[in-house]
Amino acid sequence: MEQSRLGEIVAPLLDWYHKNKRCLPWREDKEPYHVWVSEIMLQQTRVEAVIPYYERFMAHLPAIASLASCEDEELFKLWEGLGYYSRARNLKKAAQEICAKYQGIFPGKFEDILGLPGIGAYTAGAISSIAFEEPRAAVDGNVLRVITRLTRDCRDIADSKFREGITQALERVYPQTGRGDFTQSLMELGAVVCVPNGKPKCGDCPLGFLCGAYQNNTQSEFPVKKKKAARKIEQKTIMIIKYQDRIAIGKRESKGVLSGMWELPNLDGDLTKAQVFQWLSEREFAIKEIQKMEDKRKSLKHIFTHIEWHMTCWIVTCESIAEENGFTWVTAEQLEHEIALPTAFKKVYEKLNK
Ligand code: ADE
Ligand code: SF4
Repeated sequence: MEQSRLGEIVAPLLDWYHKNKRCLPWREDKEPYHVWVSEIMLQQTRVEAVIPYYERFMAHLPAIASLASCEDEELFKLWEGLGYYSRARNLKKAAQEICAKYQGIFPGKFEDILGLPGIGAYTAGAISSIAFEEPRAAVDGNVLRVITRLTRDCRDIADSKFREGITQALERVYPQTGRGDFTQSLMELGAVVCVPNGKPKCGDCPLGFLCGAYQNNTQSEFPVKKKKAARKIEQKTIMIIKYQDRIAIGKRESKGVLSGMWELPNLDGDLTKAQVFQWLSEREFAIKEIQKMEDKRKSLKHIFTHIEWHMTCWIVTCESIAEENGFTWVTAEQLEHEIALPTAFKKVYEKLNK
């Protein structure tokens, strides 16, 4: 189907939802507090896993005011096992903000909801439509899967612009009544019929009659999600330069990865002993011995967001401290208690002491 025909999904989807929706505790009423807490829990956790947590949470903290004033200890205990504790921290922060700014009453305006800690466009859309009957869509992975299959849309769902476009397209077709149900019907169809792994149950789908992917039998080709660019691998040669009980460290430049942090002396590439020797001589280190640090794996690795370092390490012993070549000489004690050495280097240093 074309995206311009999106309006045709509303009636069959609502009808299907009314007949087939699962009974879930947060669907018993449209109380904003209930919708909010359930949506936050459902962000990273499956429905079946959320149910007991949700019920226990509401038994202990039945209203916004009780959440706002609960002890962190109690909150984290209620959250234990759900993970991503920042969700719980933000819930409490938002509850306190609602008490301070909105007299303890959950705000009904989309922009105000979006402004609360821990609430993004998806959650704000879900709460606005489910609790306040606003014509706002909540587009998550489930919804993107349904829509891209219906319209055989090959665009990359990881692209936030695309997600925004789908949100707007859906909001143009929101019904006059049953807006919260429409939001949930899309989520529900994605969760129980138009499923991600294995075959979707197209024979049971109320939208099969207009579904592009079903008609071509190409359901498994949607949604399209481009792979993230592979991390760039950088080879590094690290030096642990020792004099008695001290080692040499330096400060990184103020740009690039780990900018401005302390570092072990290091060079780009996988250098030979002769190359390391030359670099050290040029900087007037009084070298006694150079030894390669043996590693059973070929090299030590450290993974950053976009870069991966593969490191080999040389252990250098000096006769005396080279003065005025810009390095700082520190003891193990200082390294442990005073110096914040980034993990990439710490890994190498700790390997030395094993
Ligand atoms: N996943 C996210 N929100 C949901 C909801 N309201 N019901 C069921 N599954 C969901
Ligand atoms: Fe998904 Fe199949 Fe329904 Fe199309 S017909 S929306 S692929 S379940």
